[in-house]
Amino acid sequence: MDENTGKIQQAFEERIAEIKSSAELEQLRIDFLGKKGHVASLMGSLKSVAPEKKKEFGQTVNKLKQQIENSIQDKLEKIAKLEEQRLINSAEDYDVTLPAEVERGSFHPITVIQREVEEIFRTMGFTIEDFKEIVNDYECFEALNIPKHHPARDMQDTYYLSTGDQLLKTQTSAAQNAIMKKYGAPLRAVFPGRCFRNESTDACHENTFFQMEGIMIDEDISISNLIYFMKTMLSEVFQDDITVRLRPGFFPFVEPGFELDIQCRICGGKGCPSCKNSGWLELCPCGMIHPNVLEAGGIDPEKYTGFAFGLGLTRLAMMKYGVKDIRVFNSGNLKALSQFESK
Ligand code: DAH
Repeated sequence: MDENTGKIQQAFEERIAEIKSSAELEQLRIDFLGKKGHVASLMGSLKSVAPEKKKEFGQTVNKLKQQIENSIQDKLEKIAKLEEQRLINSAEDYDVTLPAEVERGSFHPITVIQREVEEIFRTMGFTIEDFKEIVNDYECFEALNIPKHHPARDMQDTYYLSTGDQLLKTQTSAAQNAIMKKYGAPLRAVFPGRCFRNESTDACHENTFFQMEGIMIDEDISISNLIYFMKTMLSEVFQDDITVRLRPGFFPFVEPGFELDIQCRICGGKGCPSCKNSGWLELCPCGMIHPNVLEAGGIDPEKYTGFAFGLGLTRLAMMKYGVKDIRVFNSGNLKALSQFESK
């Protein structure tokens, strides 16, 4: 071994003995085995070695290179084990009892208001029913006294599915027939649900929105019962005096039918984009259930009468929380949607 090779080997051994981290080891590798490292410069000096010694010199340098590579590999394995142990030790210092900084989720405003309204009706003796979102033509229209080709179908731009008779529920009224058949009369039930219509959207229209339907069927149910229940529900929801108006409305499944409007609480009745500048918002169309609908539901219209309503839950949420644009609800914007959770 020539003098230079010996010096380099010694320098390497001294340095590697001091090394404690993989980063230091990498630097050592670069210094000795890198393109401009000590081994490369030894190889560079091959030119100046006497021809008869070239072969031996080359072998010596290669041997040194091999030794250095092996030592680095061994050291690397030792350091990896040490570093792993260090990580495990520091994990033991981790205090699991420290308070976590985790943000809590919140209920969507529609969920909050839906539960509130459900609770109000529950205390008035109504059951809460669930219903599917994909329904058939009979449930959504025919059982509701809207036969095929009836012009009332035009009021609801329907998403028909390509699976034959199925469609996306355009109104929660689609559950009326099944619920009447399930329970018979007397009956008090509310059934919230997501509805879909192929609408162009603006501040007060969405293609996906929520309603809460309700029916009450018994002997001698009259419009006074209907008005009483609607007023009680609205004053409970708003915890405030609200101005409502009832005007005639046409829905084939009720007779007589009404539009129950509330004065817009965003503009106080002056007119704004949220109420189409009318000062009023159609909130809860309702009416006395048509005898054909009772009959389709297996209930004797000679004996029983009833009322039905289709509360616009999404609109109610807009009015209650002062949300100016209905599109916020489906926006997924957490900043806007996480502020409404009831205490
Ligand atoms: N289903 C109707 C709609 O979405 C709303 C409605 C009107 C429901 C009158 C009712 C009712 O129960 O009696 O347009």
